[in-house]
Amino acid sequence: MSLGHLMQGKPRPDTPGVTISTPRAYEVVGALCFAGRRHRAFTRLAELSGAEPGDRVLDVGCGTGYLTRHMATRVGPEGAVTGVDASPPVLDYARRRKPRPGSAACTYREGIAESLDLPDAAFDTVVTSLMLHHLPEELRPAALREMYRVVRPGGRLLVVEFRPPKSRLGRHLVHGGVSHAMAHHRVDLLEGLVTDAGFEVRGSGDIRPWLRHVQAVRPTRSESTEA
Ligand SMILES: C[S@@+](CC[C@H](N)C(=O)[O-])C[C@H]1O[C@@H](n2cnc3c(N)ncnc32)[C@H](O)[C@@H]1O
Repeated sequence: MSLGHLMQGKPRPDTPGVTISTPRAYEVVGALCFAGRRHRAFTRLAELSGAEPGDRVLDVGCGTGYLTRHMATRVGPEGAVTGVDASPPVLDYARRRKPRPGSAACTYREGIAESLDLPDAAFDTVVTSLMLHHLPEELRPAALREMYRVVRPGGRLLVVEFRPPKSRLGRHLVHGGVSHAMAHHRVDLLEGLVTDAGFEVRGSGDIRPWLRHVQAVRPTRSESTEA
């Protein structure tokens, strides 16, 4: 049995997404996997999101709230950050963690990425990290369409995913140790998924040790008409 299986929550009736039910174990594994680079990597991701002071931010599949809190620091006390996840135990954990002084307030809600219970165009910036590979491939477009719906025209999207090792041995180790979905995740398809949802891709790249990110914007109506 892999670490991934041990951390999984019970299946939910409303989503086939694989949830995490052991937030403490997730945090320990996360810290180990980043080998001391987690804080730096997520500070950089918060910068790459393009979020500005005062922004309303949504973090989809927020888990223990690690990126959520980095986003709260980024947008400052005038901003507001909402984290959504399908797993109550990770949300309980996230609620107990205080953002840094001078950060935005963080609010956490139970919810499903592929059917968000949130109004249209309610956010300036939407971020999602390491969540898409928890959904079956056929549901990923629906999750991105929901992110498109809830971000305002002109608003930004940051998608972050696990970049599997290039070597067969590396992928084999990730498969056996954590999960099949991580070991074989097609990060090369991310930009297409983001574009198909209606966004315009503005950048992409890698962050060590193993993250891939894609930045995009939801075009304003005039930009869509010109295209
Ligand atoms: C690997 S964790 C990533 C957590 C966090 N974003 C991070 O970067 O540490 C994936 C998260 O996606 C959540 N998840 C799985 N299926 C989901 C769904 N359908 N809707 C929302 N969240 C989901 C899991 O419960 C888990 O917390």
